[in-house]
Amino acid sequence: MTIRVLSVASEAVPLVKTGGLADVAGALPAAVAPHGVAMTTLVPGYPAVLAALPKKAKAVHVWPSLLGEPARLMAGDLGGHPLLVLDAPGLFVRDGGIYGDAAGKDWADNWLRFAALGRAAADVASGAVKKLGFDALHAHDWQAGMAPAYLRYSPAGATVPSVMTIHNMAFQGHFGVDRFPGLGLPPEAWSIDGVEYHGGVGFLKAGLASASAITTVSPTYAREIRTAEFGMGLEGLIRSRGGDVLGIVNGIDPAQWNPEHDPALPARFGLRTLAKRAVNKRVLEAEFGLEPGDGPIFIVISRLTWQKGMDVLFEAIDHLVGVGGRLALLGSGDMAMEAKLHAAAARHPGRIGVRIGYDEALSHRMQGGGDAILVPSRFEPCGLTQLYGLAYGCVPVVSRTGGLADTVVDANIAAIAVGAATGVQFNVVTYAALAEAIDRTMGLYRQPEVWRAIVRAGMKSDFSWGRSGKAYADLYRRLTESA
Ligand code: ADP
Ligand code: GLC
Repeated sequence: MTIRVLSVASEAVPLVKTGGLADVAGALPAAVAPHGVAMTTLVPGYPAVLAALPKKAKAVHVWPSLLGEPARLMAGDLGGHPLLVLDAPGLFVRDGGIYGDAAGKDWADNWLRFAALGRAAADVASGAVKKLGFDALHAHDWQAGMAPAYLRYSPAGATVPSVMTIHNMAFQGHFGVDRFPGLGLPPEAWSIDGVEYHGGVGFLKAGLASASAITTVSPTYAREIRTAEFGMGLEGLIRSRGGDVLGIVNGIDPAQWNPEHDPALPARFGLRTLAKRAVNKRVLEAEFGLEPGDGPIFIVISRLTWQKGMDVLFEAIDHLVGVGGRLALLGSGDMAMEAKLHAAAARHPGRIGVRIGYDEALSHRMQGGGDAILVPSRFEPCGLTQLYGLAYGCVPVVSRTGGLADTVVDANIAAIAVGAATGVQFNVVTYAALAEAIDRTMGLYRQPEVWRAIVRAGMKSDFSWGRSGKAYADLYRRLTESA
């Protein structure tokens, strides 16, 4: 029997994206479809999302007042799968980013914007919209965290099972106690096993406390968040949910990321036509103003933040250049970090190329032309850029944490001997460890046969959604059967 699941997220490819959450929310419907799950995705009606709706789209439901705001539900399409859009212009139509203004400051009413998303999701999942029925709800990250809580505290919703997925424990949606009355929850929700969190309202906490099951995006991160170092204050709650917490690793969407069919690449290639990568490398050199050469080009595609270890990367830039490497970096985020990067590029003309901003097509060209992708994250729930690197023959050089630990096989002597190595791992995110990892990568690159074997093993490794799509489907089935 087909299971109908409503997936709720604050971003989804190809409509709107600020990070990996969007890739995953966009890919999930196709990932679970072969396993008997019909998934509908609900996202907020930001301008870019409304613009993608068909001209004649009709409202399938109207809320005269959704937590005080007029709202409608519109039907659309997400890569061939059903889409629902929460059209509430007072909340989601504004200039700037989806979470904050153009200067990066969070919108002051984010609590209301995403409480409304959760309220709408719970209404839809529990049958408020005639002709739409769902067997389960799947909420992603804090922005959807209130959905399981609204289900739990509403008479019609309490029987609908829900899954809460943590894509990043560092973002929790924590607001003041004065917001509680505006959420429209019954008084009993204000409790330590409800939405209360350190004297305020915690959206992720509410989802974790209310959902029937919890998942996160890799088995290693599922273990890590049980500890104080990675749990960010929620480790106790995670531990108390015991076996309800599963780690399911992300896959990549072959419709978006396949080097044989990627329209963004100057030269498309596959395992049998690897030599064509050289064309992409020359284009990359030109795009980043790097002097042409046979040595490796390291790439970085990242938010410029502490999580991603970018401060440590900057410390290692001179070393990278000193041992003969070149670097092409695409990123945005912290302004102070951006300034440091420009300074590094000025220090090493022709060796360091920097592009500040967000550029999807460029990120594809970098994966298709670079030799190694550096991902020195302090924590990484899953990480997608190393998976794209594997698929595109751009060898991942990663810290051994979260999904990076689970998806890259370190090129130690034993792994090289059996042909299993797909990248380079290092243990702690320090200058010394990163510099050593760069040295090891340079050493491997200088052995063309070994390097080719690593590239090929990476391209052949399983980064598809296959097993993970089935794991989500199995989870939904288990929950709906026991509901
Ligand atoms: P996170 O979601 O924590 O930022 P992930 O590795 O899961 O990390 O996902 C990041 C996604 O965003 C990837 O698809 C990556 O290619 C993309 N990305 C990050 N920074 C940029 C950028 N500056 N330009 C284009 N794409 C980017
Ligand atoms: C988060 C995490 C990242 C993960 C992505 C998708 O943004 O930081 O590691 O890959 O979500 O699950």
